[in-house]
Amino acid sequence: MAKLCVRSCCHTAVFDKDTMTHLFSPLRLRELTLRNRIAISPMCTYSATDGVANDFHLAHYGRFALGGAGLVMLEATATAPEGRISHGDLGLWDDAQIEPLARIASLVKAQGGAVGIQLCHAGRKAARQRPWHGNGPLGAEDLALRGESGWPLVSPSAIPFGADYETPSALEETDISAVMQQFVDAAGRANAAGFDVVELHVAHGFLLHSFMSPVTNHREDAFGGDFQERHRFPLQVVAAVRQAWPADHPLFARVSALDGVDGGRSFDETLAFSRELGRVGVDVIDCSSGGIGGHSASTAGGGGPRSYGFQLPYAERIRRETGVASMAVGLITEPELADSAIADGRADLIAIGRQALVNPNWPLHAEAALGRHDPAAPFQNWPEQYGWWLNGRQKIINAMR
Ligand SMILES: Cc1cc2nc3c(=O)[nH]c(=O)nc-3n(C[C@H](O)[C@H](O)[C@H](O)COP(=O)(O)O)c2cc1C
Repeated sequence: MAKLCVRSCCHTAVFDKDTMTHLFSPLRLRELTLRNRIAISPMCTYSATDGVANDFHLAHYGRFALGGAGLVMLEATATAPEGRISHGDLGLWDDAQIEPLARIASLVKAQGGAVGIQLCHAGRKAARQRPWHGNGPLGAEDLALRGESGWPLVSPSAIPFGADYETPSALEETDISAVMQQFVDAAGRANAAGFDVVELHVAHGFLLHSFMSPVTNHREDAFGGDFQERHRFPLQVVAAVRQAWPADHPLFARVSALDGVDGGRSFDETLAFSRELGRVGVDVIDCSSGGIGGHSASTAGGGGPRSYGFQLPYAERIRRETGVASMAVGLITEPELADSAIADGRADLIAIGRQALVNPNWPLHAEAALGRHDPAAPFQNWPEQYGWWLNGRQKIINAMR
């Protein structure tokens, strides 16, 4: 488990570049050491064919590794064809999907990054258009224009995501075990592909999260009802994947800290679930929110206004109150905010999403912005293939000042 630091002192007064915990301190998780606390957040690119990664994915994820991230987390990757959000999702339900992902894992590791993959079953939110085609349920137009049809959806209960969406079938108990096995098999393939980290997607209203929320789970069997029943299946999946995933490799789980809708889960349930996740061997809880659908109840969670670092309080409370390491995500765009979150013990890792799409070199820039370099050679940690050029250019610029 990650070393927890709960210091809340003012870091400007005691700043010590070498000894204090900061954005660029390494983080050891089981036998894996991350070179810094920056992770690239999982972000779907909807660019695969039949779940198979291609050269776009190789270039896309390679850029983040060259950009200095400690951990490059690949996007939501389906554990079954019917668990895809769209026709373009990556998949790990078939051995043929291993090798193209192994190329990506190998490239990231060769550049000094660690590499993770997020495993997901989209449940009742599956079979959708790519965002740039509308983001709605697949329909006749998608079939006519792109040859892409929808497929039957599954969920804990037969409640559709929205008015336009197909009503999912409630999973039978035998199907529930099959879904669990698909997660275990996908984790086995992730290991064969050389990934360092698996993250289970237990957030955003996808299948595992939809078991946990009273909004989407109306079951009356062992998998629905009070806290224990609703969280039973996600916990079983996490425990089964932990058993199958190598003991020296870290396991992450992304949670929606709040559903943020009428009748949704409370943060107390997230805390209790996080303790259970730690108990079954999850190393890092990745703290997101929202996605379950329904009417927004308040300004909290998925429905609320979003400001810089808006989900940091969840990461902070989870690590402080459960003792499990946490990853913060959500509008963390400035190096100073990311660094202070680590230094002040509010999170163990910072996930950067959209800002990394704007600038895949965000970690390298952040390191310079935080003054962790000799100003005369601010590109010392850049890949040497261009760092030496850039430092030469800096000397010229400095001489002109
Ligand atoms: C293009 C895009 C794709 C995303 N895909 C995923 C995904 O595959 N899995 C996931 O858990 N979150 C996904 N997210 C959410 C991000 O991981 C992240 O939590 C969110 O963007 C907030 O962080 P940010 O403000 O740094 O972008 C996606 C976000 C974007 C913008």
